[in-house]
Amino acid sequence: MKLSKVILTGAVGLMSLSLAACGGGSSSGSSSAGGGGSQTVFKLAFNQTEDHPQYAAGVALGEKLEEATDGRYSVKVYPNEQLGGQADVIQNLSNGTVELMWVGAPVLEGFNSDFVVFNLPYMFDSTEAQGAVLSDTEALDPLYHSIEDSKSITVLTGVNAGTRNVYNSKHPVVTPADLQGMKIRVQQSDSQVAMIEAMGAIASPMNQGDVYSALQTGVLDGAENNEVTWDALKQSEVAKYYSYTKHLMLPDYLLISTKALEKMSDEDQAALLEIIPEVQKIANDGFADFTEKSIEHATSIGAQFNDDVDVAAFKALVQPLVESNVNENETRKQLYQVVQEANAANPAK
Ligand code: GCU
Repeated sequence: MKLSKVILTGAVGLMSLSLAACGGGSSSGSSSAGGGGSQTVFKLAFNQTEDHPQYAAGVALGEKLEEATDGRYSVKVYPNEQLGGQADVIQNLSNGTVELMWVGAPVLEGFNSDFVVFNLPYMFDSTEAQGAVLSDTEALDPLYHSIEDSKSITVLTGVNAGTRNVYNSKHPVVTPADLQGMKIRVQQSDSQVAMIEAMGAIASPMNQGDVYSALQTGVLDGAENNEVTWDALKQSEVAKYYSYTKHLMLPDYLLISTKALEKMSDEDQAALLEIIPEVQKIANDGFADFTEKSIEHATSIGAQFNDDVDVAAFKALVQPLVESNVNENETRKQLYQVVQEANAANPAK
């Protein structure tokens, strides 16, 4: 039985995973002698700080997993890129030396380009619409399991990661002309490069951990992100003009190495999968609060917010990109349809 079925049903009795057939030579997790026997500790790579709700969600995952598996499994979260930038870590997850990670959605486009649909500008009309899509496990199931055989990567869940806006060290951005010629950091994927170039800037794809110093030294003029990343990673100190272009609402995904998942017994897999909706909720619930705190802190250090942005002009510039990407194949058209329905049911407020 494919893992997708296991996740969909979540029922222990229906599982008949053939561990032998699944292979997966490399070792997963580090084992340590726990109270009643050995414990496998999954490494969860995270590129942000301990204040972020995804960190709390990762810690909760470990605690709940330990309890649900009678101590056979736990999780250790490594924040602040301790295990490397996302583009490198995902390779290690694929080869099984890292078991879990939070990843920005565009990074997955390099493994299956159909992930692009949710990463296109102005895709979701509201946080609620995005939430409805990310809760639709049936619609997402084929996508989430699409790179298990080829890359040994399983998507466990997707969460809200705020709305992304542009910020820079020069001046507020009101119209596309204000972005002209600016070097703006984007995440490492074709869609993100094409997006920022359509908006008028010069794209500079870069690992998140390198952004602060690139802004500080002037290698970059700016970047685009949610308020929490901008402030928590201190970019608000060196690029203080934050302008509400509202161009993206990207999910972050919690990934597990398929090899590591398949090494767990059917019972332990079921225990893990049952915890995931709670983990998703912790990450989502904490985000709005963290955003508010980030805005307060950035304001206190002199950052400037600009809400007077010609969003319609930016939207018009990226529309051809959205259309060409969505119409590329049937899978994307179907995913787009799911988004459209969620948008209709959850319009912008
Ligand atoms: C957000 C997102 C991260 C991502 C980062 C980035 O913070 O939550 O997953 O890595 O943006 O732009 O690199």
